Amino acid sequence: MLKAIENNNYSIYFKSEGYKKLAHYIQGKKINKILILTDDNTKNFCLEQFRNDLLSYCKENIFIHDFSIKSGEASKNFSESTKIIKYMLQCGFKRNGLVINLGGGMISDIGGFVASIYMRGLKFINIPTTLLAMVDASIGGKNGIDFNSIKNLIGTFNFADFTIVDSRFLKTLSKKQLISGFAEIIKHSLISSNNEWKIIQEIDDINAISDEIIYNSVIIKNHIINKDPYEKNIRKYLNYGHTLGHAIESYFLNKKEEILHGEAISVGLILETYISHVVLKLDINYALEVKKLIFKFFKKIEFTDNNINKIVNLLKHDKKNKSETPLFVLIEDIGKPVINQKVSNKNILDAFKFYAV
Ligand code: GLY
Repeated sequence: MLKAIENNNYSIYFKSEGYKKLAHYIQGKKINKILILTDDNTKNFCLEQFRNDLLSYCKENIFIHDFSIKSGEASKNFSESTKIIKYMLQCGFKRNGLVINLGGGMISDIGGFVASIYMRGLKFINIPTTLLAMVDASIGGKNGIDFNSIKNLIGTFNFADFTIVDSRFLKTLSKKQLISGFAEIIKHSLISSNNEWKIIQEIDDINAISDEIIYNSVIIKNHIINKDPYEKNIRKYLNYGHTLGHAIESYFLNKKEEILHGEAISVGLILETYISHVVLKLDINYALEVKKLIFKFFKKIEFTDNNINKIVNLLKHDKKNKSETPLFVLIEDIGKPVINQKVSNKNILDAFKFYAV
């Protein structure tokens, strides 16, 4: 059994232990109504299994409502938030209601956001169903919605009381979704240690991601969150690959060829590892290793000069930057991230050339 991770303000449970804990939690907190938020995929493929697992441990009758929104990042907006809020109001949700976010990062982001603002805040729980949400989005209290094509512009830091990681849900995912989540596992290994990085490079088959790989990735994230929950310093390590990755994702938002978060981050990781070589003298072999591993799983994206200019312009909106110049997290060695690094436009353009060849 995977050992539960219990912190002061939130806990992470694995598989059946999680459902048992959730049933106790519902009883202990005298929760009278539950909203299970899903998207159209998790409504079809995960809701029934989750309900059955939960109800098998619940002794009392509880009112369970469910509400579903369209899958995809484009739903992470005010209009969908309003629909959820209206539904909760219609069902009579009060402060002793609970929101359960059953889905990937989009669902935990918007569901956590709505739970945080409805009647000044309801409790919420995350049940991640994608690899990406299991190792990243469902842990760490970030929630929010996109606005004006800017990712996560509106939101709060507010922790789900707990997260249940149940890798059975991975069977419901497409290969594309699984691969997308792998980008965050790669990131965690690069900012953690050479040992982790070696283990991750040995993965050849995306379907062979083990519970142990997921667990180690969760441990890496949890360790950082515990030390710096509100991103004052070392939590910024988790933004490795994300400064350019988010700009790329924002660029593709609402375009016909929308890309998944992890796909954008995979590009960001190659670019920012190359920039780490240029700015911090990271051994170029690591940049080559990152590119090799990523292209084993991810399709190369073709960027025109015009695309790249627009992406560079979007960096100005990175909310993590307090100055006009975008500040990056880079690595001086595997497992040694360095925050607040200035990167020139030339460094970025050169990195896109490194990505393309
Ligand atoms: N996904 C980055 C963070 O949680 O801080």
